[in-house]
Amino acid sequence: MLKINNVSKSFAGLLAVDQCSFAIREGTISALIGPNGAGKSTLFNCISRIYPVDSGEIYYAKNRLDLLPPHRIARLGIGRSFQLTRTLDHLSVTENLALHTAGGFGSHLLQRGVTPNDKQRADEIMEFLGISALADLDMGSLSYGQKKLLDLGAVLMADPDLILLDEPAAGVNLRLLENIIEKLVALKEQGKTILLVEHNMDVVMGVSDDVIVMSAGRIIATGKPSAIQNNPDVLEAYLGRNT
Ligand SMILES: Nc1ncnc2c1ncn2[C@@H]1O[C@H](COP(=O)(O)OP(=O)(O)OP(=O)(O)O)[C@@H](O)[C@H]1O
Ligand SMILES: [Mg+2]
Repeated sequence: MLKINNVSKSFAGLLAVDQCSFAIREGTISALIGPNGAGKSTLFNCISRIYPVDSGEIYYAKNRLDLLPPHRIARLGIGRSFQLTRTLDHLSVTENLALHTAGGFGSHLLQRGVTPNDKQRADEIMEFLGISALADLDMGSLSYGQKKLLDLGAVLMADPDLILLDEPAAGVNLRLLENIIEKLVALKEQGKTILLVEHNMDVVMGVSDDVIVMSAGRIIATGKPSAIQNNPDVLEAYLGRNT
């Protein structure tokens, strides 16, 4: 469904993504893991066209993503979250979700407020996430964990087929972690395809069908979670002996 072919990206001489290739299968959850600075977010940014690639190709079904402008990516049914939460604290939770409807981030809110359609979609998402009670609260009054959950909600607003999540469970408490895991599995059961960057190994091992491991810009292993867990190259990358 998504195929990364020999993608490289450097920043002023620093090779952040170095000839990476992997594919993810439709209807599965794949985890992209690796030590800090491995290049995971950069690769995400290449897939969602925040950054142009230096070389290589990115295929989504028959489309060459690397040749498309960023605004076309969402229209193809690809949604993403960012490593750091992005919210407008003076707006309500419903209004924040409404910023992420198909029209693009915030393009319409100031002109026309929350339309009945946007509100209905936001209500559906909040119900799915189990946070309907938060609808009218100011975003600024929410906890960090609630904001993390709303990051996922924001991605879901446009009903993407392919969901890219950069550390959806970073820093959340155990109860919320379990909630997030449950939602990811529910999304997969709805037929969604998910690629997530995640440091929490309980999440990675608990939900992933496939794991892709990056270290120092390169893909060093791909496989089932159980195989990855015992892969000596992966253990070495995490212990930092080969960097
Ligand atoms: N916009 C940028 N300009 C310059 N260097 C960058 C930029 N973005 C990332 N880098 C560098 O590229 C490398 C890969 O960074 P990246 O953020 O992709 O790592 P990561 O695997 O997501 O790490 P983490 O787990 O800490 O989020 C790092 O050395 C980082 O400093
Ligand atoms: Mg990152």
